[in-house]
Amino acid sequence: MASDQPGENTRAVHLPPAPVPAQQPLGTPVYRTAAFAFSSSAEYAALLNGETEGYSYSRIDNPTADAFAIAVAALEGHGLDSTGLDSTGPHRPTAAQAFASGMAAISAVFWTFTGAGSHVVAPAAVYGGTYGFLRHVAARFGVQTDFVDLTDLDQVRAAVRPQTRIVYAETLANPTVAVADLPALAGIAHDAGALLVVDSTLAPPAICRPLEHGADLVLHSAAGYIGGHCAAGGGVVAGRPDLIGMIRDVRVDIGGSLAADQAILLRGGLETLPVRVRRQCATAMLFAAALARHPAVRAVEYPGLAHHRGYEVARRLFDAGPEGTRCGAIVTVTPHGGREVGHAFTGRLRIAQVAESPGGAHTTVSHLASTAYREFDEAALAAAGIDPEAVRFSIGLEDGEDIIADAHLALDSLRQEGKA
Ligand SMILES: Cc1ncc(COP(=O)(O)O)c(C=O)c1O
Repeated sequence: MASDQPGENTRAVHLPPAPVPAQQPLGTPVYRTAAFAFSSSAEYAALLNGETEGYSYSRIDNPTADAFAIAVAALEGHGLDSTGLDSTGPHRPTAAQAFASGMAAISAVFWTFTGAGSHVVAPAAVYGGTYGFLRHVAARFGVQTDFVDLTDLDQVRAAVRPQTRIVYAETLANPTVAVADLPALAGIAHDAGALLVVDSTLAPPAICRPLEHGADLVLHSAAGYIGGHCAAGGGVVAGRPDLIGMIRDVRVDIGGSLAADQAILLRGGLETLPVRVRRQCATAMLFAAALARHPAVRAVEYPGLAHHRGYEVARRLFDAGPEGTRCGAIVTVTPHGGREVGHAFTGRLRIAQVAESPGGAHTTVSHLASTAYREFDEAALAAAGIDPEAVRFSIGLEDGEDIIADAHLALDSLRQEGKA
């Protein structure tokens, strides 16, 4: 029998919309939707033409991804009004863009500002994924990169040329924990007409805010410190709104946008970032000092130790609290003995887990020469400043004495066996 009612399938698909509360929710809503609906094609066209603000399709923009991007911009010191609160409002973030991963963010920056014939200056010990992208992907599109020791400013000055579009730095390099002198690098980049782009994954806002030190753009892999719990991945770029607008256009074209489910976890991570970072830095400092005293250890690299070549720059650029200068959670430990001893060391740890993704709540460890740098021979390791036996720790939120005791027990056993 005919009825005025639509059929059950139509009614099922066209359920009443969820209420839109007038009150601001304390938690961030998750907009798990691929698309948004319009009342007319004219309304849709006005949005696409930039005449109105709103959302059409989640690859293009998603409110939860935007909520994460805005939050990072605020912590990086952008989008703040005179009260120090976020003034960018509920709309599209102009000071940051969120991505599906750190590499999606990094590659989008290069796709935005380089092209055939352009030149990039990057650190010799740059993160492996960035190295691979510049060496094997961007190079095929005519982008040339010089990899130099970024702590040697004369090398950087000698490398820039009229075609240089980006001087690329890592605030704290992985795994050498070299500290980039951002104001000096900004000077060199800007004199050459280039941008200073800074990967600050290992020195998040509670340690350093590169935009305050002359960087044009700062970016992060959000899987480590920012998310904090190894439960989500993502990337983010923050900086000058004119540059961010150009990056957004490229993100929309190449995809790699952050999913709402990941964004909600990453935004939640930001709320506890300073608390976690302070504790991790304080524990890492204790850990580095304790390990440096162990007889089985040949070297400890940590910018909080006075002998480290980045010590002075870290004191100048990094935040400090009652616990001292915050130098991050990454501590590189080189035991006596050969490559095999480094490998064995990681196998004897009980609390530190062999894993990637530095900066999170769990203490993680990796023997560099047999994992991330396994394709490097001895000469290549030496050129990158990595000892074959070096082990990289990322200090988490466990009790410091437990992490130290764990490492000491492992080293003691190697020493008793005459290995270290
Ligand atoms: C310094 C640094 N930059 C970039 C990345 C890449 O980020 P993602 O794995 O999120 O793509 C990482 C990953 O660990 C990293 O440590």
